[in-house]
Amino acid sequence: MKKFLITAMLALPMMAMAGSIKSPNGNIELKFSVDNTGRPVYEMTYKGREVIKPSHLGLELAKDKHASKHLKETDLMDGFTIAKEETSTFDETWKPVWGETATIRNHYNELAATLNQPATKREILIRFRVYDDGIGFRYEFPQQQELIYFLIKEERSEFAMAGDHKAWWLPGDYDTQEQETQETKLSEIRGRMKEAVNWGNSSVAVFSETGVQTSLQMKSDDGLYINIHEAACQDYATMHLELVDAQTKALSTQLGGGSNAYTPNPKPSAYPLPQPFTFVSHLTPDATGLKGAMQTPCETPWRTVMVSDDARDMLSNNLILNLNEPCKIEDTSWIHPTKYCGVWWEMIVGRGSWHYTNDFPSIKLDQIDWSSVKPNGAHKANNENVKRYIDFAAKNGLDEVLVEGWNVGWEDWANMWKRDVFDFVTPYPDFDIKMLNEYAHSKGVKILMHHETSSSSQNYERHIKEAYELMNKYGYDAVKTGYVGDIIPRGDHHYSQSMNNHYLYVIKEAAKHHIMVNSHEATRPTGLCRTWPNLVGGESARGTEYEAFGGNRPDHTCILPFTRLQGGPMDYTPGIFVTKLSEWSNNTSWARITIAGSLALYLTMYSPLQMAADLPENYEKFDDAFQFIRDVACDWDQSIYLEAEPADYITVARKAKGTDNWFIGGKCDENGHKSTIKLDFLDKGKKYDCTIYADAKDAHYETNPQAYVITKKVVSAKDVLKLTEAPGGGFAISLIAK
Ligand code: NOJ
Ligand code: CA
Repeated sequence: MKKFLITAMLALPMMAMAGSIKSPNGNIELKFSVDNTGRPVYEMTYKGREVIKPSHLGLELAKDKHASKHLKETDLMDGFTIAKEETSTFDETWKPVWGETATIRNHYNELAATLNQPATKREILIRFRVYDDGIGFRYEFPQQQELIYFLIKEERSEFAMAGDHKAWWLPGDYDTQEQETQETKLSEIRGRMKEAVNWGNSSVAVFSETGVQTSLQMKSDDGLYINIHEAACQDYATMHLELVDAQTKALSTQLGGGSNAYTPNPKPSAYPLPQPFTFVSHLTPDATGLKGAMQTPCETPWRTVMVSDDARDMLSNNLILNLNEPCKIEDTSWIHPTKYCGVWWEMIVGRGSWHYTNDFPSIKLDQIDWSSVKPNGAHKANNENVKRYIDFAAKNGLDEVLVEGWNVGWEDWANMWKRDVFDFVTPYPDFDIKMLNEYAHSKGVKILMHHETSSSSQNYERHIKEAYELMNKYGYDAVKTGYVGDIIPRGDHHYSQSMNNHYLYVIKEAAKHHIMVNSHEATRPTGLCRTWPNLVGGESARGTEYEAFGGNRPDHTCILPFTRLQGGPMDYTPGIFVTKLSEWSNNTSWARITIAGSLALYLTMYSPLQMAADLPENYEKFDDAFQFIRDVACDWDQSIYLEAEPADYITVARKAKGTDNWFIGGKCDENGHKSTIKLDFLDKGKKYDCTIYADAKDAHYETNPQAYVITKKVVSAKDVLKLTEAPGGGFAISLIAK
């Protein structure tokens, strides 16, 4: 680690001070000071343009009956003086275990301000890291006599916007982020909120008419792309943002009990509201309304603001990974990129069931003799069907087969407030766990474990050791976890400090057992996969499953890389070829994408874990297009974003890890898109077998989604490719070095 102290200044007591620091290339400048009431203030510019106008920082603390010498409740909001400001620079290149690039440069200038609150004799530190493409800051709380334990009522980090930017936002919600993205001006968020929260999900808890989630992508009228998110969220609640607009009278608070509606603020905060167009942090409460229980020494997650005048930089940005700690797993040899298929889509679409029997009104796990239970005939995790998927995976070079519905308990699994819903070790009678794993291994394939917890998180923790030992015994090396429904115990939320601690506990326990984790409905990622690279994927957004529940807008996948994917890869489960589900089921929903567009997602939605989600028999009908899924890599030495505009199009070229082969994907929205791709990034002097999977001239995501053209030619770095993407379409290209 190279860390050089450039300057260190000692403040004169009670004298107002201000610090300023620039990014390594000088494009970003950050200023920090305390105002005349002793409130910390920061501001940020990019190439001289305002990104964050002067904005306050601080935390309001909660009162508690145990308030004592050790548990303090005076706010950490004002009355501060700057005791010390230190600047330093850091420049290091590190190698991710898997990723979009083989190496990542972590280069920033840092300003660390130590603040005294003389009235309470307390000291905190605010640390800023300034990169060429954004900033991160966090609060640090050293252990001290007057600050040992404290409870957070609300974090009050402000982000004052310089204009009425366009924003791609999701309603702020303590439990879900599976909504369609809204695209409005900041001033239109309040007016759009009712419509945005009017959708179906089994666990919804919105908190404000102007509350939005991170990662929040914005664009200013003069072409600045600005993104607010967080990094390294651990032992802390997930942050939302509440927009203060002209109509805001008070900030929202959540007083506990898990209300599902906007909660009016019964006791407005004592601190003045910031100016309109300011976002204020809003943490997710636990069941009692508490937003954080802290024990010093400790720190908050990093609050991140990424900025550029080129949208492509939003996608190639590594700021969030860089703000996370280095890998904590010593031997990572068991962590691997994974392509998989699964006994899954047929249940999601409704042609089969996770559960085994229809004969019981409810299930008590310890009271059923499964061998004598009458099967319902629709259970898909049965030996014969699982073998069919294993054969398909083996034939097509897929690494693993996800099998959902293998374990007892699915008869009454969700939304019953049932604690002991699964034991994660008992298979249904028609799933021979030993035989199927041996069968898979004999063909070079693994079965991917599934642990739906139904959000009964304590039940999962009680069973986790046995569950992972069972996985080790039968040779599973990856688990998909799930958190459908409201959190049990009742009142807690998916994104609270306690649940965030649960997800991390699961990742660490899994690491001990050499198990990779792909968690669905868990908290949105904040780059923890750098520290724990066995976290290979997650959902935490609207995935392909919604194509069976009414559909995803065609621009959805041109937004996610700017938002959800900022914190880590998503298990989007792409690859739907038969988009009209009524062709093979009773489901009338349909996927709003062409086949060529589906192929593009394997490139544009970066993940080391990629599913081929459609049914084997559907792929067999389009085997020439499926060739691309067989060929495409999911781990990369190099990635070049060629074109990007949020909600319109993304084009990326990636070089497969350890090879000379390249793959290019382009995905667009409902308007179609034309791309001109100069292949000058290829190795000069090399020739490549190029296969282009493009939308046919008359392809369209609604009327003609299966019309594609496959073209083969030999190309070199001198060539230029011209491609036309259909409405809701895309293209995929493989370039295999000769
Ligand atoms: C929701 C998940 O996103 C989906 O993939 C899974 O099949 C179901 N829950 C059941 O666990
Ligand atoms: Ca668009």
